[in-house]
Amino acid sequence: QSGLNSLDTFTEEEQMLRETVQRFAQDVVAPKVRDMDENEMMDPSIIKGLFEQGLMGIETSADHGGAESSFTAAIIAIEELAKVDPSVSVMCDVHNTLVNTVLRKYGTKEQQDKWLPQLAESKLGCFCLSEPASGSDAFAMQTRAKLEGDHWVINGSKMWITNSHEAEIFLIFANIDPSKGYKGITCFIATKDMGIEIAKKEQKLGIRASSTCTLNFDDLKVPAENVLGEVGKGYKIAIEILNEGRIGIAAQMIGLAQGAFDKSVPYTYQRSQFGQPVGTFQGMAFQIAEAAVQIESARLLTYNAARRKDEGKDFTKEAAMAKYWSSVVAQKVAGSAIEWAGGVGFTRETGIEKYWRDSKIGAIYEGTSNIQLQTIAKFIQKEYS
Ligand code: CAA
Ligand code: FAD
Repeated sequence: QSGLNSLDTFTEEEQMLRETVQRFAQDVVAPKVRDMDENEMMDPSIIKGLFEQGLMGIETSADHGGAESSFTAAIIAIEELAKVDPSVSVMCDVHNTLVNTVLRKYGTKEQQDKWLPQLAESKLGCFCLSEPASGSDAFAMQTRAKLEGDHWVINGSKMWITNSHEAEIFLIFANIDPSKGYKGITCFIATKDMGIEIAKKEQKLGIRASSTCTLNFDDLKVPAENVLGEVGKGYKIAIEILNEGRIGIAAQMIGLAQGAFDKSVPYTYQRSQFGQPVGTFQGMAFQIAEAAVQIESARLLTYNAARRKDEGKDFTKEAAMAKYWSSVVAQKVAGSAIEWAGGVGFTRETGIEKYWRDSKIGAIYEGTSNIQLQTIAKFIQKEYS
């Protein structure tokens, strides 16, 4: 059914990757989705499978054990996984578009040689920026780092960290000199065994198989050589990576919308009322047609942003537009998909309601919808004033 989408500008390699991910999602992920949602836990075999399929180092060079593919390829994988399970999708998304990318873009050769192979092979990563008192206002963070001899000592807490329950590698943002404001923010790479406390695991409305935890750093000692990029430039690393990451969340949301659509629409042609399939009543058919337009528009925005990124063009505004609109579309389509299936759509058995629960997060993480609109508005103001 996903053949409804008309975008067909993918390379042979990208198309092959799409098919590989579709097979993995159908064969390995689909049978576990409901249990993982109910148990609020990612099945370890899926994490292992993501690594074995080469989906955890999509853009990483072959020298470092990766697939050396495009950013668009990563977006394809995130979209395809989300059609089946948005939780698995976000695990892959954070690992690739946030964690690997920081290393590839800002790591020294020594850091890349050390960390990228581990991240491509078997060790899950997470991106630790948000805190209890700083979400949208991310640069107001309270976590501090102090240089003591050949180590940085980090103190503070992070909140809402995706993948952190299963992760072994942590990118931590901390301020080394608050008198400099956000220009004191620095990015560190740490491992769980250095002494990171994984505290409260959130119980959530959606993406329940994706872990979201609070982390505490109590005199966490990180070797001096584990600073990523320049000291004091961590804020720029965080936001530049998030500009890219937002395209990943857009892909998660369009995959989710398509997944809900694919589950519900066939039912509307099987279910008859008043002597005809419910999907053929004009009131239903027009809603379905409108949803198809919305998915297509969000998809075009998303792949346009991804291609611009691959081609080295500016993409910040396009990424914000893609993330904003895909989140709106995901919520709308997933909500309608429940209604199209009537009472059956409201039960857990069909899995349709899960897409709607999962869709809510799109408007919150990696910058809320208001933050995306603020980014877009700044571009408009610059151009028109
Ligand atoms: N791209 C590049 N640079 C940007 C930028 C952008 N989109 N937005 C701001 N900046 C830069 C500015 O140029 C400025 O840098 P210079 O001083 O070097 O010129 C600096 O950041 C500060 O700019 P502002 O004063 O405008 O920034 P602010 O303090 O008002 O807010 C922000 C900046 C924190 C980035 C905010 O706009 C934002 O995006 N908040 C959302 C935070 C977020 O996305 N968190 C996601 C956490 S990770 C996650 O969520 C993962 C997951 O769920 C799976
Ligand atoms: P707040 O910033 O308090 O926002 C509350 C409301 O106020 C929102 O509607 C917001 O749009 C609005 N608002 C705030 N500022 C403005 C403004 N200037 N103008 C207009 N409206 C405004 N963070 C990480 O670092 N790493 C992760 O892996 C990660 N994963 C996450 C996973 C989940 C499931 C969740 C829920 C969050 C995750 N986050 C992660 C954190 C996420 O990025 C933040 O929740 C998000 O940035 C919003 O911050 P907040 O929750 O503090 O909301």
